[in-house]
Amino acid sequence: MANRTYYIAGNWKMHKTRAEAAELAGALVAGLRNGKHKYLVAPSFTSLETVGPIIRGTNIALGAQNMAAEEQGAHTGEVSVLQLKDLGVQTVILGHSERRHVYKEDDALINKKVKLALKHGLEVILCVGELLEEREAGRAEAVCETQTVKGLEGVSPGDLSGIVIAYEPVWAIGTGKTATPEDADAIHAWVRGVIGRLYGGGAAEKIIIQYGGSVKPDNAAQLMAKENIDGALVGGAALKADTFVPIAAFN
Ligand code: PGA
Repeated sequence: MANRTYYIAGNWKMHKTRAEAAELAGALVAGLRNGKHKYLVAPSFTSLETVGPIIRGTNIALGAQNMAAEEQGAHTGEVSVLQLKDLGVQTVILGHSERRHVYKEDDALINKKVKLALKHGLEVILCVGELLEEREAGRAEAVCETQTVKGLEGVSPGDLSGIVIAYEPVWAIGTGKTATPEDADAIHAWVRGVIGRLYGGGAAEKIIIQYGGSVKPDNAAQLMAKENIDGALVGGAALKADTFVPIAAFN
């Protein structure tokens, strides 16, 4: 894993009231106090203002799960980058497979969001990943390559330091089926190669590539042991301190 820092993020998706979010955030602050890696939680928009002050000044950063492609305006139901920054959000997850496949976000829209987030100084976790039928057709690499290239179109080499990639095979998300460490590492290596082609070898060496898809306390360490896997984006197991802390504090 070269000289990269492990980065473990929890995506709480559409779960938790403010009181539940506060309880989990408090438990994570305590549980990760001595954690050696980089950490992030991404609560629902409605809990950002509650969770922010609880984790401020700790080793856990505040993330959002999505963002509008426009700065502001007549966009009913959307949340803008300015509003996220106002709440102390540091990072935004973009291109999550649920956004791509359930809410039909395409690469062009995701790219617009990526550039807007970077322009405002937010870190971006850009998610890429293939569907089961794409994997079975031998297209996993090509799909992840296209999503990476199109997601980063127009992102300057100087801005790449604000990008984290999360490889999340869609068939592994919320299904209990994890990619084998070998299969995941192969895609991570492929995506790292794509970054190398676009931005050079130094940038490829530096970029953090998280794995996501049914990461659990009992499989985290094997995944993280792989050369190209630099962390995790965790969904289901991020909803309880009992499961997130052991993943986040893995050795
Ligand atoms: P999961 O979700 O850990 O529940 O599979 C991962 C994700 O969607 O980021």
